[in-house]
Amino acid sequence: MLSITKTIFWGLLTASVLGTPLTVNRDTAAATTFNNPVLWQDYPDLDVFRVGDVYYYSSSSFAFSPGAPVLKSYDLVNWTPVTHSVPRLNFGSEYDLPSATNRAYVKGIWASTMRYRESTDTFYWLGCISGGRTYVWTASGTKAGANNGEVSNWNWTSKGSLPRCYYDNGLLIDDDDTMYVVYGGTTIRVAQLNADGTAEVKDQAVYTSPDNLYIEGSRMYKINGTYYIFVTKPADDEYVLKSKNIWGPYERRILVDSISGPIPNAGNAHQGGIVSTKSGQWYYMAFMDAYPGGRIPVLSPIVFNKDGWPDVVRVNNEWGKTYPMPVQTTKTVPSSGGLDTFQGTSLSNEWEWNHNPDNSAWSLNGGLELRSASVTNDLFSARNTLTRRIPGPKSAGTFRIDISGLKDGDRAGAVLFRDIAAYIGVHKSGSTSSLVMVDRLNLGTNWVTNSTGTVAASGPALAATTKEIWLRIKADITPAFSGSSAVRTTTFEYSLDGNTFTQLGKPFPMSNTWQFFTGYRFGVFNFATKALGGSATVKSFSVESL
Ligand SMILES: *[C@@H]1O[C@H](CO)[C@@H](O)[C@H](O)[C@H]1NC(C)=O
Ligand SMILES: *[C@@H]1O[C@H](CO)[C@@H](O)[C@H](O)[C@H]1NC(C)=O
Ligand SMILES: *[C@@H]1O[C@H](CO)[C@@H](O)[C@H](O)[C@H]1NC(C)=O
Repeated sequence: MLSITKTIFWGLLTASVLGTPLTVNRDTAAATTFNNPVLWQDYPDLDVFRVGDVYYYSSSSFAFSPGAPVLKSYDLVNWTPVTHSVPRLNFGSEYDLPSATNRAYVKGIWASTMRYRESTDTFYWLGCISGGRTYVWTASGTKAGANNGEVSNWNWTSKGSLPRCYYDNGLLIDDDDTMYVVYGGTTIRVAQLNADGTAEVKDQAVYTSPDNLYIEGSRMYKINGTYYIFVTKPADDEYVLKSKNIWGPYERRILVDSISGPIPNAGNAHQGGIVSTKSGQWYYMAFMDAYPGGRIPVLSPIVFNKDGWPDVVRVNNEWGKTYPMPVQTTKTVPSSGGLDTFQGTSLSNEWEWNHNPDNSAWSLNGGLELRSASVTNDLFSARNTLTRRIPGPKSAGTFRIDISGLKDGDRAGAVLFRDIAAYIGVHKSGSTSSLVMVDRLNLGTNWVTNSTGTVAASGPALAATTKEIWLRIKADITPAFSGSSAVRTTTFEYSLDGNTFTQLGKPFPMSNTWQFFTGYRFGVFNFATKALGGSATVKSFSVESL
């Protein structure tokens, strides 16, 4: 989302900052700008921080596994996923998707936190999980502090859990190295942790909305000796609490109130967190409800007035579509997308399974072999569906699949995955493989499968010798969430040669509701309706924007 322009933007921005003179030390003549959203993918509940030259971005992932993805950037604009803080969801048996009545849909990882503690060279991740406990994972010995933020070997280790839900938490490592967790809704509390962050030593309410304003999504910072807690009134506003003392009393000011922009028919930018560049400029990274695509991040500069209150730098009184690049650097991260041929010994960080996978039923060996892991007629109860986020606003994901290992009763294909889903794939019956488009798989309002889907269209009979097929999902996740009654659609295509693609079935109308939280994803699956033993091998996946 990078563009180059010769326009001098900082001059324009200065005029719109509320009563705050802006000092700018940059070569505006060579200004390079970026566009919002900085990353058009479903990475919600973000926590952003910097170690040396590297910005890190932790996000939530519900019952997808591995969980708590971490992205990396050198400029706050170009991001790439580098690891997951929770390699396997260790929160209970339902995260393994053992049965139709024991599943973790819409549970798992939401509004969690991640920070780096330089004194012990340890990254901490904390998340409150259903069941009233806060799980702690750490990565030690990464040498990030010594290597200007770079990490070559993430070493995520479970540190167990604390017996309290730190709801919507934010971690602060104070100047004296004490660890605090800010959390809660309406009443904001701070818990002080012990020296290694594995137990609580003190817990206290620090702020209660006098007007009963509902706030949550806390992030805490210490800037020049002052404590700041950023909180959201979901899903419209962001407030700032400020105090000289971590335990309060805190004063409250609004940061953004239902701010317009930068893209139409999405919700208002809110929640998220702030981060400073090496040169001391501050940025606020928020996210917007952008269903059917989920929640996507937007970035803006912020400035502090002489009393230490921050404000978002607005463009025409809105969240800017375009701002100057926060950092000029020659360091780059790999761009997302392209072709994945499943080489190497592990999946790339773009991929997340629906619930914890059965690791005995998949392998990388000249492709991704998916050996059926469940006997069910319900995709929502089948283990080992592999998913990844759909880049917006429109993109196509194409899976090349070797179907020669399928057995009688197997179903394999490419799914547009969410609570109301559809897929294109192969149903094998006896020795006959049928190409089908199945729609209206429905997880139901209580996440109890309401419909396992209906065959909406059938393709030509596949020859017994057909070894490989190409399945393509063309998704339009342009936000249609707020102020729009438009229904976004996805079409499904197949190819028998990898060149000529044919649409199967009608465009599928996507749901734009928020209650499932996660946006639509590309997915690939193979499950058995009769008996285990069959397999499908995903030879490649490619993604193109449309
Ligand atoms: C990985 O983490 C564990 C537990 O925190 C630690 O004992 C170990 O030294 C770390 N490994 C490396 C290579 O740093
Ligand atoms: C913090 O203090 C430094 C040095 O006085 C000053 O340059 C900077 O603007 C201050 N930052 C904030 C956010 O108040
Ligand atoms: C089940 O699915 C049908 C059709 O999509 C829908 O009308 C109905 O509301 C659903 N019921 C529940 C409980 O989700």
